[in-house]
Amino acid sequence: MHFKHSIAAIIVIFALIFGTKTFFSDLIHVGSDDHLTLAERIQPFGQVYLEGDIDVTAIKAPVKTATKARSGEQIYTTACTSCHGTGVLGAPKFGNKTDWAPRIKRGIDDLVKVAITGVRSMPPRGTCMDCSDDELKAAIEYMTK
Ligand code: HEC
Repeated sequence: MHFKHSIAAIIVIFALIFGTKTFFSDLIHVGSDDHLTLAERIQPFGQVYLEGDIDVTAIKAPVKTATKARSGEQIYTTACTSCHGTGVLGAPKFGNKTDWAPRIKRGIDDLVKVAITGVRSMPPRGTCMDCSDDELKAAIEYMTK
């Protein structure tokens, strides 16, 4: 009788120990980073690299892909139309012969040059800072047609 009680008590104790153990390990293991090692889980957010730690030459600079030149129409509609569409600040209007004729006489190269530097209320590059000279030229040809 006494012996049976001891067995029962031991079983209860084991059950308790085992039960609480799984209970706590379940608590600890919640989360989606189960697959991480302990070291990974407790590592600091940032990492410090000292000169020479990493081979910087191995890091490739983002390659500027040879972007296809945008059309004169594309440049005009994104960068120039705001002023040249309606003649804001006295800008020569799109396709307006009277506005453009005296300017065209000076030649396209001169117009491109002025468009690059800007003049009076005409901002440098017509505010299109990533426009190539050729794209500006195309935009001018488009709006002087
Ligand atoms: C903020 C308004 C504005 C924007 C944007 C603008 N322009 Fe102009 N542009 C002007 C004004 C104003 C003039 C007239 C300047 C003058 O003769 O006093 C002008 C004049 C010009 C001229 C004639 C310059 C000359 O020598 O007579 C060209 C060419 C020109 N713009 C090209 C462009 C192109 C190309 C774009 C777009 C990439 C552009 N502009 C965007 C305001 C603008």
